[in-house]
Amino acid sequence: MQTVNTIERLRDCIKQWRSQGNSIAFVPTMGNLHAGHIKLVKEARKKADKVVVSIFVNPTQFMVGEDFNMYPRTEERDKQKLKAAATDLLFLPTVNEVYSSDTNTIVSVSELSKLHCGSSRPDHFDGVATIVTKLFNMVQADLSFFGKKDYQQLLIIQTLVQDLNIPMQIIAVETEREADGLAMSSRNAYLSEQERLIAAELYSALGDAKDAVLAEKLTLAAIEQIQISALQALGFKVDYFSICRSQDMQTATDKDKDLVIIVAAKLGKPRLIDNICFSR
Ligand code: PAF
Repeated sequence: MQTVNTIERLRDCIKQWRSQGNSIAFVPTMGNLHAGHIKLVKEARKKADKVVVSIFVNPTQFMVGEDFNMYPRTEERDKQKLKAAATDLLFLPTVNEVYSSDTNTIVSVSELSKLHCGSSRPDHFDGVATIVTKLFNMVQADLSFFGKKDYQQLLIIQTLVQDLNIPMQIIAVETEREADGLAMSSRNAYLSEQERLIAAELYSALGDAKDAVLAEKLTLAAIEQIQISALQALGFKVDYFSICRSQDMQTATDKDKDLVIIVAAKLGKPRLIDNICFSR
């Protein structure tokens, strides 16, 4: 595996691969890699000749007071994992390489960025949309891979690729889970031993809500409320628990068939998110 730190070296490498007729897959990450990230790399490996992974803890997607400074940086361990997963190229730029001091352009997917996570983390999705667009332009891959755990992020990225005519396919990959159902996330490391034991209840609540929707005995609002109360009783501070249309994340009505139930809740220090997608 080759590691490059500059856009110029990245482009040289991509140019050479292109001249040899290789297809290119890209997996953007913020490092601190877990099995969920490696699943993305393995999917990428199956679909293209060359796999590029970026590790960049993007400052513009963290709000003031969030964990940018303490976000776990585990470069050496990440490199070993990427090598073992047969990554061809690691792009590891500095903040100065990515953002020049006179940057003026922000990519903003208007409607979608304000909903759900966007309402408690204003500017977060503009930070994500901007860095992802920049990385797409730097790598110019044929395919990029994103986990379904960050469902709103995935939808925002699919929207910007379509709206900005970026000639690249977005591949959505199923959420990787711990044995008890907890969605894998770098932020799970912030859970205490006690909190870790109840964290999986978040996914159970999604499953219970899905069953209740399919049973058609309660209104969607009542189902949401039951699960919010259950999670609160366990010690979660629920930001939202919403039954939405999967295509645009607007509140679902009784007529909608393709649904996603989304949840965000704080448990001790970390804010955890998860979702479940289904049709009825
Ligand atoms: O999901 C992430 O890790 C980040 O939001 C991403 C897509 C790498 C952009 O910084």
